[in-house]
Amino acid sequence: RTTTVSVIKADIGSLAGHHRVHPDTILAASRVLAEAKRKGVIKSFYVTNAGDDLQLIMTHFKGVDNPEIHELAWTAFREATKVAKDLGLYAAGQDLLSDAFSGNIRGLGPGVAEMEFVERPSEPIVVFMADKTEPGAFNLPLYKIFADPFNTAGLVIDPRLHDGFIFEVLDVFEGKAVELRAPEEIYDLLALIGTPSRYVVKRVYRKSDREIAAVVSSERLSLIAGRYVGKDDPVMIVRAQSGFPAVGEVLEPFAFPHLVAGWMRGSHHGPLMPVGLKDSKVSRFDGPPRVIALGFQVKNGELIGPADLFDDPAFDEARRQAQMIADYIRRHGPFMPHRLGPEEMEYTTLPEVLKRLKDRFKPVEMGYKPKVKHESGEAADVD
Ligand code: 13P
Ligand code: 13P
Ligand code: MG
Ligand code: MG
Ligand code: MG
Repeated sequence: RTTTVSVIKADIGSLAGHHRVHPDTILAASRVLAEAKRKGVIKSFYVTNAGDDLQLIMTHFKGVDNPEIHELAWTAFREATKVAKDLGLYAAGQDLLSDAFSGNIRGLGPGVAEMEFVERPSEPIVVFMADKTEPGAFNLPLYKIFADPFNTAGLVIDPRLHDGFIFEVLDVFEGKAVELRAPEEIYDLLALIGTPSRYVVKRVYRKSDREIAAVVSSERLSLIAGRYVGKDDPVMIVRAQSGFPAVGEVLEPFAFPHLVAGWMRGSHHGPLMPVGLKDSKVSRFDGPPRVIALGFQVKNGELIGPADLFDDPAFDEARRQAQMIADYIRRHGPFMPHRLGPEEMEYTTLPEVLKRLKDRFKPVEMGYKPKVKHESGEAADVD
């Protein structure tokens, strides 16, 4: 029998702007899942928050993309949204982009990461949940976990990891995916995933037997809605130990608070700060972007845990570095590269401002005919 872990999340409104989820909405969602557990639809669940995003972590035996599970999540978000509206929470129902549920929650706004596997005798998993950033924020950590021997000792030492891993990379603009093998194709892999706004690592498989190792929610809200609707605030599930990287190897990349897109108005680069649940909220400039890591053991479909893995002084230095980076990059104010580039800003309200200025531009004699299409940021006929 296979077990499925489904992590489905949505911002359904929050307390004091985009700061954090209100406990009453967590309760409302929990009630829906408790009832589903009683009826045997799911085996177990844990409801929590990453900043202003409501997180449903569920286990069941129905496989991925199951309509009943997706509808359950949808119902939980709808019930939580009712509470959010009653309390006047900010942006109530923010990520529910459609009114109608039609069998699958993907494309409706919520983020979805699901994996199905035959449980090992001991099955440790880590659920990562980020706020104020996008799915590509996990590209760098995933590369380190599954392809960098300076991060993951097991790639060198452990014969079960030594063959390497397969990365499934999604082009979120074209709706296409490509599989690349590590270590053989790491330069091609990096050529893609170094552009995290477009190329998102969706899944990682162990090469020797194609066993699922990791999965990321790849929903890009701006591409679904065609306008700015906050950041996607992704989730990720990673299996650990016994043929996969150790839990400590899975957490290690987050000791480096790398720069990600998101933060204020989803329009700024900032450091990704690893925090425990007690700091699962944002404040400074609506950030800085945060990531929570919850460890579970999955046994007979039951979630045992969680362990609040970043709630540890071992990550104090990463948090301190993140503060320093935040101070430094914030001093750029509205300038790139703190503010995102023009392609990403297309989905914000900036184009409206630029449109108002358009008529005020007068032609000037430059002595040459420019060949650069500057609106999209794309250069023609230049390297
Ligand atoms: P323990 O001896 O504490 O179980 O550690 C095993 C291990 O592999 C740690 O990475
Ligand atoms: P969220 O996607 O977390 O709601 O962030 C929206 C925002 O604009 C923060 O400044
Ligand atoms: Mg929000
Ligand atoms: Mg959020
Ligand atoms: Mg969001």
